[in-house]
Amino acid sequence: MIHIKSEAEIEQMRAAGKLVSDTFKMLQEYAVAGTATEKLDKLAHDFICDHGGTPSCLNYCGYPKTICTSVNEQVVHGIPGKYVLRDGDIVSCDIVAELSGWHGDATRTFLIGEVEPRVRDLVEVSRECFFEGLKFAKPGYRVSDISKAIQACAESHGYGVVEEYIGHGIGRQMHESPDIPNFYDPRRGKGARLLKGMVFAVEPMITLGSPRVRVLSDGWTAVTADGLASAHYENTVAITDGEPLILTMPVEE
Ligand code: MF3
Ligand code: CO
Repeated sequence: MIHIKSEAEIEQMRAAGKLVSDTFKMLQEYAVAGTATEKLDKLAHDFICDHGGTPSCLNYCGYPKTICTSVNEQVVHGIPGKYVLRDGDIVSCDIVAELSGWHGDATRTFLIGEVEPRVRDLVEVSRECFFEGLKFAKPGYRVSDISKAIQACAESHGYGVVEEYIGHGIGRQMHESPDIPNFYDPRRGKGARLLKGMVFAVEPMITLGSPRVRVLSDGWTAVTADGLASAHYENTVAITDGEPLILTMPVEE
């Protein structure tokens, strides 16, 4: 069942989304060579808590940290730890926070120092994929219109689309209906028709090479099977009568 949010509820979700985007703003200056990923996690944890929020991922299904930090060939759910970021790395930071009972979810992939051009392009295209999908985040379209647009964007640049991890409805729960795949799957069909008041996370994960992934023995970290880089970009989006609202991005951006 898809929960439709009222305008007042979407305003509350906007506050949760703002906490997530403010966390990214704070984190940005620390996403540099020499920073351990566990430091990014601690900074995000303390920032979210200091602003009245709760880290949604911490203890979720046993997840041990506040944020996910997925470096280079890590696709998603990388666990922050002792790894120290180095010049040329990319790191996807996936942050979910709860505020007043509502969740906001976003991911940014930071470039550390001088990143090789093809990897920089991969990161740029992950963002582009999100905005291509967003063009269809309006009443009258279906979930699959978003999925197809994301897939077309990634593939037109020669990149792979990860299939095992997908976007999702979000609200009082971090994961709600509907699923938002980043590719068109005829077995799933066209998906739900979009209605005003739906809120979901759109989160393309794309790869330089094969889109195949495997999960490391920590039970969380998904990496590309071929070891090539992967990039992730995500925002929480609300469907309105007109243009969608991006709840996890400052309005002026
Ligand atoms: N944005 C991720 C998701 O939608 C966050 C996962 S947090 C974890 O699945 F707890 F599952 F790691
Ligand atoms: Co998400």
